[in-house]
Amino acid sequence: MKKLFGKTKINTAVFFSGNGSNFKSLLKFSLSKNSPINIKFAVTNNYQAKGIYIAKKYNIKKKIYNFKNKKKAEKEILNDLNLRSINLICLAGFMKILTKDFIKKFHGKILNIHPSLLPKYKGLNTHERVIQNNEKFSGCSVHFVNSRLDSGKIILQKKVKINKKDSPKTLQKKILKAEHILYPKAIKKILISS
Ligand code: GRF
Repeated sequence: MKKLFGKTKINTAVFFSGNGSNFKSLLKFSLSKNSPINIKFAVTNNYQAKGIYIAKKYNIKKKIYNFKNKKKAEKEILNDLNLRSINLICLAGFMKILTKDFIKKFHGKILNIHPSLLPKYKGLNTHERVIQNNEKFSGCSVHFVNSRLDSGKIILQKKVKINKKDSPKTLQKKILKAEHILYPKAIKKILISS
């Protein structure tokens, strides 16, 4: 992506489906002095997502979309993103796979965070698989989203050491902490010219 950040902050939407801890860390980042983004909108497919309370707390406009009809949901989302002049989408634990058409419309402007050292361990249940395979390291990756799952260009990664005592749960916790640092760093990397 071309370095987008000039004088004005980039209007950003965050998509989440669950706890929203990455959403919260991105919100904190967006409020910091040198952040190139301004989070203006939150999208979820899950009316029980805890992230909804985070949106409320930070006074961020949010909307819940029904993905039973994905085409319809995406059409509505695109409309809402355009209304708010959104220029960057950060997927943060969003459990729906966006269609090729949607991704095309935001080409090069959708980021995702994944809890593994991609290209290893794409998809779900990463921590379980990593532990089962006796890996010494895992980590997280921020990447651009393309039409293939977890396969877009990698922006930044952070390695996390696995101890013998780690379970999928403890590993998840360690990696989440790393994610909260990595996502803002990756955004700075692509948006702030050096
Ligand atoms: C994170 O591990 C992220 O990498 C993955 O989903 C999880 C979301 O966690 N895509 P949270 O909702 O941000 O706490």
